[in-house]
Amino acid sequence: MTDGPMTDISRILTPVVEDDVEVAVDRTLRPKTLDEYIGQRELKANLSILLGAARQRGDAADHVLLHGPPGLGKTTLATIVARELGANIRYASGPAIERAGDLAAILTSLDERDVLFIDEIHRLNRAVEEILYPAMEDYALDVMIGKGPSARSLRLSLKPFTIVGATTRAGRISSPLRDRFGATYRLDFYDLADLTAIVVRSARLLGVELSPDGATAIARRGRGTPRVVNRLLRRVRDYAQIHGDGTVDAATADKALAALEIDDEGLDGTDRKLLAAIVQKFGGGPVGVQALAAVLAEEPETVEDVYEPFLLRLGFLDRTPQGRIATDGARQHLARLGFDVPPPRRGDAEQPALWDGTAVPDIGPTTGSTPGGRATDPPAG
Ligand code: ADE
Repeated sequence: MTDGPMTDISRILTPVVEDDVEVAVDRTLRPKTLDEYIGQRELKANLSILLGAARQRGDAADHVLLHGPPGLGKTTLATIVARELGANIRYASGPAIERAGDLAAILTSLDERDVLFIDEIHRLNRAVEEILYPAMEDYALDVMIGKGPSARSLRLSLKPFTIVGATTRAGRISSPLRDRFGATYRLDFYDLADLTAIVVRSARLLGVELSPDGATAIARRGRGTPRVVNRLLRRVRDYAQIHGDGTVDAATADKALAALEIDDEGLDGTDRKLLAAIVQKFGGGPVGVQALAAVLAEEPETVEDVYEPFLLRLGFLDRTPQGRIATDGARQHLARLGFDVPPPRRGDAEQPALWDGTAVPDIGPTTGSTPGGRATDPPAG
């Protein structure tokens, strides 16, 4: 695809936090208690029991593992856990804790019942992870003194504390680590009603005049992700301020989001480029994540963690052992937007709707109307 109207905008829809200003605003919008927290009802109910019981007993709460796609509120929940326990929280992340000594320093500085949040916990290295096992299980720190034959291990006790681990990849956590969490909760994408409620709450906190249909228009394109709807709300607010009287209604939201090239399913240029690449360059799939990552100039892990989860959830993408496949829904969506959608390479019985069962020629991986099989831009306008 040429860098036409649908590829050139920075990723306003990324569920990953992008800059310092965003971090600050994001923080002001975060709910501070479980009561204020919208959505994830089942998780909240279970977490509330775990925290209430620990508080009643006066104990540190069990270690909690949170997993799910980025932007759904794992850090927010960790902060809430500490607050509900009346404890302090320390924030750390798997890749930032490089040496066993770094983790030991953090652990020995914790007060009784404090919370240690470890983001991207699946990225802890082996040496650090091994310090964590006795720390989580027995509140103990095993340190080696000396070297060679005279080396011996000394066990120091730690004050009881709670680890809240967060990961986008539950499957990447080693089983000894996973086993040491007393509770594991999965965060799911938010439904439209919850996202709408989040937009309404955020608008109130930001002092934005917002009509009910304006809230729905934003929530509909929010990819099931609070961080994304909060970002969209701020961009629509800017648009309403420059092009109107500052009030956000559906018409303003639609225009602002169209200007940002966010389509009616909430996809941005990168999402469309990913789907168009599968359809146009790779004959509809299956295609490996490495090849898709190369097309997007991203790391395969970013494609898997950031782009794919919502496309899977929308039903636009299938993951098979052979690779990724663009579904018929994705084909129809791209076709509706004016993309060139060649027939799939394989006559797949599961994708007959657009292609009505007619024989599909083996057209190879680089079909499409542009040279080199590049993703083709939809018509202007
Ligand atoms: N802001 C971001 N996430 C939220 C949530 N789950 N509930 C309320 N406000 C939020």
